[in-house]
Amino acid sequence: MATTSRRRLIRVNDLSDAALAELFARARAFETGEALPGGRLQGRFVVNLFYENSTRTRVSFEVAAKRLGAEVVNVTPAGTSVAKGESLVDTVRTIEANGPDVIVFRHQDSGAPEVIERETKAAVINAGDGSRGHPTQALLDAMTLQSTLQRERLDGLMVAMVGDVIHSRVARSNMDLLPRLGARVRLVGPSCFVADGFRDLGFEVAHDLEEGLRGCDVVMMLRVQLERHQGVSFGSTREYHRRYGLTKERLDRCAPQAWVMHPGPTNRGVEMTDEVMDDPRCLVRSQVEHGMFVRMAALDMLVSGGAA
Ligand code: NCD
Repeated sequence: MATTSRRRLIRVNDLSDAALAELFARARAFETGEALPGGRLQGRFVVNLFYENSTRTRVSFEVAAKRLGAEVVNVTPAGTSVAKGESLVDTVRTIEANGPDVIVFRHQDSGAPEVIERETKAAVINAGDGSRGHPTQALLDAMTLQSTLQRERLDGLMVAMVGDVIHSRVARSNMDLLPRLGARVRLVGPSCFVADGFRDLGFEVAHDLEEGLRGCDVVMMLRVQLERHQGVSFGSTREYHRRYGLTKERLDRCAPQAWVMHPGPTNRGVEMTDEVMDDPRCLVRSQVEHGMFVRMAALDMLVSGGAA
């Protein structure tokens, strides 16, 4: 599926425009039932190697692989030799000796993809590496918008990404993907999370939430990535919510027509209120639903080939 001969989805930009269009087309075909998943990965062996916690991503990769007929093995640090101190290299060598067709991995270290690719001949999919990338999340976000808006291109759309942009791999991957689909991206948050330098990369920047919400069509809320805050002075979560939390009142006043997204897990009452989570404009459930179809398409293309 990649522009290189290596079958990989480490970054959104591993996908050429043709491969991107093909991936969305396959995901939609699985969603509508036009393409039947049964047996497409029959006899194939997918390993989910997750060094970091995950609910929706791991579950959806597992369900996607199983719906395509693959055998799936889940490897997490607890319960394996990783807990005994085995290195990533040796863990991947052990997995490799069992002949996987695909390794789906999540790791806290942004250098992990290079190590894994070096040690395996399997196709590799990045399910999150440190704060660097999470391509299938951006792809499922885009598919959710395509299906909500009933169009493939997102030209003219203004997407405000709110919160801990600098530590967010979801933000990075969306910043790669959304402009390719025609959308404009505005980054909103305190300067410890949203550097003014992002303007030089073509993004709008706002440090005030209400200003950042005005005129946007989509608000993508990001979780505060406490686990990645080394030395970042961010203040209390209560103060953060007061300044950057999405409330129904703020949404109604500043961007009443906007769709609300969040990759999950959500800290209710920090990034947004319960009321916003339960609002019909909130697409969180639809995001999770589209995740499975995007991952089915990615696995299918990596194993059976696809447009480059
Ligand atoms: C995200 C992740 O782990 O990168 N979650 C997800 O995959 N849906 C976002 C987050 O943890 O904030």
